[in-house]
Amino acid sequence: MSTRIFPHAMLREIHEQPDALARTLDAYTQGDQLREESFSCALQALAGRNSLLIAASGSSRHAGLIGEILLEDFAGMPVDVEYASEFIYRSTQTMTSPCFLVLSQSGETADTLEALREAKARGASTVAITNHPGSTMAHLAHCSLPTEAGQEMAIPSTKSFTTQLLVLNLFALFVARVRGRMTRAITEAHIAQLHSLPALLQSALHAWEQAAPGLAEHVRAPGTCLFLGRGIHYPIAREGALKMKESAYIHAEGYPTGELKHGPNALVGSTTPLVVLATHDPRSADSVLRYQKTVSLLEDLQAQGAPILAVATEGDEIIPRLSRQCVFIPPCPEHLTPILEVVPLQLLAYFAAIHSGIDVDRPRNLTKAVLHE
Ligand code: G6P
Repeated sequence: MSTRIFPHAMLREIHEQPDALARTLDAYTQGDQLREESFSCALQALAGRNSLLIAASGSSRHAGLIGEILLEDFAGMPVDVEYASEFIYRSTQTMTSPCFLVLSQSGETADTLEALREAKARGASTVAITNHPGSTMAHLAHCSLPTEAGQEMAIPSTKSFTTQLLVLNLFALFVARVRGRMTRAITEAHIAQLHSLPALLQSALHAWEQAAPGLAEHVRAPGTCLFLGRGIHYPIAREGALKMKESAYIHAEGYPTGELKHGPNALVGSTTPLVVLATHDPRSADSVLRYQKTVSLLEDLQAQGAPILAVATEGDEIIPRLSRQCVFIPPCPEHLTPILEVVPLQLLAYFAAIHSGIDVDRPRNLTKAVLHE
């Protein structure tokens, strides 16, 4: 047990992520198998439903965007993701009778709660992934799948986000089994990989924390930066940008890497830092293709003089040559990478904030429902 005293809740909560992931895994798995009793309410919520609508706000919505990819890839289930604050104003639904999933750290965010009530009124079966099983959303939804992150006090969410990603992974595996899309053996192999995550994260945390103050120096002065990622990494680019805005008051946007050329490239020059998710899984042809496209784009951007800060996979010798500073994540399957690669971005936002003297646990103008247990 570490005796380190952390100066801020946000930094402590970043460091609590390996334990939070391990606890959440314990709640939903036994060895390499899903605990059926943990998902029995989900089985009922999914009965007769062939699509899923996800609604959430802020970081939780970014988790939802990753959930969309996992559910479509693993379970072949069509998924739409809405901003909770927008969903309530839409009178039409293109999906016929979807299962409706809300994601929320607190389980109390007003927009998400209203979306959940609206979905119930429209006859949807509902699932809530929250960090508080006693919250209003957890009670209102037909099925509650809690994360086991423990109390999160800082407004910028960290451990609640990564545990949401973990529960979405497990839920996608469950749905894949229910829909007959995945064999038991493949599901077990996926769960075994999930079990490696807490140790992988723990092993890299120290190096990321050492690197983050240097990264933060690059983003402090310019006042704006772009975060780029492809595929499952794009929502992490969005999340990195949100963390930068809400924690450090630095304007940032998250873009799909390939979309940079269609407008935002006009911003790129020596004063606009680019934070690029350039990790890859050599065992996945799709991942390698996305990576090669990113390398080629970075060559162009480097020639434009852009300060590139990158997250790459250990052993990569190309990305460090193209970037001013590069942090590495341990190799792991592509669909698990978001849980690792978001953490250096959390640390980047944290150090950018504290270097500017910001009260990072309670940034201005923001509220977050924090339930005390
Ligand atoms: C607020 C915070 C965001 C958070 C969002 C959703 O707007 O500033 O950081 O992601 O609420 O919170 P929830 O508790 O629903 O996940």
